[in-house]
Amino acid sequence: MTSDLSVEVGGLELRGPVLAASGTFGYGTEVPLLERRALGAMVSKGIFLKPRAGTAPPRIAETPSGMLNAIGLQGPGVDGLIRDYAPKWAAWDFPVLVNINGESAAEYGELSARLDGVPGVAGFEINISCPNVEQGGMYFGNDPRAAASVTEAVRRRTKLPVWVKLTPMVSDIGIIARAVEAAGADALSAVNTFVGMSMDLNAYQPRLSFRTGGLSGPAIRPLAVHLAHQAARAVDIPVIGVGGIMRAEDALEFLVAGCRAVQVGTATFVNPNAIAEVHDGIAAFMAAKGFASLSELPRYLPRD
Ligand SMILES: Cc1cc2nc3c(=O)[nH]c(=O)nc-3n(C[C@H](O)[C@H](O)[C@H](O)COP(=O)(O)O)c2cc1C
Repeated sequence: MTSDLSVEVGGLELRGPVLAASGTFGYGTEVPLLERRALGAMVSKGIFLKPRAGTAPPRIAETPSGMLNAIGLQGPGVDGLIRDYAPKWAAWDFPVLVNINGESAAEYGELSARLDGVPGVAGFEINISCPNVEQGGMYFGNDPRAAASVTEAVRRRTKLPVWVKLTPMVSDIGIIARAVEAAGADALSAVNTFVGMSMDLNAYQPRLSFRTGGLSGPAIRPLAVHLAHQAARAVDIPVIGVGGIMRAEDALEFLVAGCRAVQVGTATFVNPNAIAEVHDGIAAFMAAKGFASLSELPRYLPRD
């Protein structure tokens, strides 16, 4: 038996539920063809309007069952993306969403307007884990009003699908999820990295030059499953689960917890074939359990 793994997520028809997470797949151009057949979609590395050099090295530190990164959203800016990457994406057989970033709601809106209608750009994933310069550096993703204002600013400037990538660094993810849903988001990605720190015992200082970094990998998986589940319970739009997925069983945990699809990030660094293996493992599970399509998979979503 072959199960149908296609899925509709926030305005996009995807051939499979396994997506490449932002920042862990570059702009997709380095990826061997082997990986692509199983890709439901790719989310690009985060982009700002202007080119950015990112933070100074060291930018990565290994931790138990995970890694800390502080890349600082290095990137070519919107002009470089339109010139060098979007034309390649336009020829691919899966959609590419651009992970967009800004220092003000207006900047996010401007970025989406510049990319709207560019061939190869299928939609946006708004990264709200950015400091809001107009509000003294408070993260957009920590404040329901700021998160909603960014979502609205993008929603007003594009007809393309708008997904919002939630930060786990909040006391109630449901409040943020509902605020961005009301502001017009088509789907949510849950979650981004957790803020962490690690000390170099020879230098007596943090191992990352930025001091803190985003923790990803299997270390965060149970935290991410819980937050994705809470977000899915709070909204009617689809939630895409992200965080620590290494194998098909991990992805299935997010799907049973109420997610419509998943993203694989850090696993790709360890195993470049991870996305294909997760996809194939989901297919094998579905076939073994006798589910004809993903919509038949039972979801645990109590409303009380
Ligand atoms: C090196 C690296 C760079 C990342 N860059 C971005 C980014 O530009 N934008 C974003 O929204 N998330 C970014 N992320 C977060 C991932 O997309 C993902 O949410 C997180 O790593 C948790 O998933 P994982 O445990 O499968 O890696 C990055 C993660 C890593 C490890």
